[in-house]
Amino acid sequence: KTIYVLNGPNLNLLGAREPEIYGKTTLADIETATKARGRELGFSVEFRQSNAEGALIDWVQEAAAKGAGLIINPGAYTHTSVALFDALSAAKLPKIELHLSNIHAREAFRRQSMTAPAVDGVMMGFGAAGYRFALEALKSLIESRAG
Ligand code: DQA
Repeated sequence: KTIYVLNGPNLNLLGAREPEIYGKTTLADIETATKARGRELGFSVEFRQSNAEGALIDWVQEAAAKGAGLIINPGAYTHTSVALFDALSAAKLPKIELHLSNIHAREAFRRQSMTAPAVDGVMMGFGAAGYRFALEALKSLIESRAG
């Protein structure tokens, strides 16, 4: 079973980008840890990042066609993208929105998520560790949907 983990704009800069908010862990480190936890949980993890909205939409569609579940950190597109909301709404697989930071504890413009209404659950505020927690949450969603 394949889990897609999709990362949006500027997340390629993790580690160097505002480490006081996003932590010092790089996206490559997160990818390694997420794949390892995935293996423990019996999943293969397809881990991707793009700064382009269209690429993320293509990957949501690919995940819906081929994946068992989806975790997405849409970055700033969280707050702006009707197109990602539509893509997620059409993707009928267990899906979680994830943020490193607690978007409710920051600027007012981050408090609204355009994409959250189109996913099963949202996880935020746990930094890099959130990726592993989201995998566990997704496993439970997949199992409850199967049963
Ligand atoms: C983010 C939160 C967004 O508001 C921001 O634009 C990001 C990262 C997070 O993971 O905390 O790029 O999605």
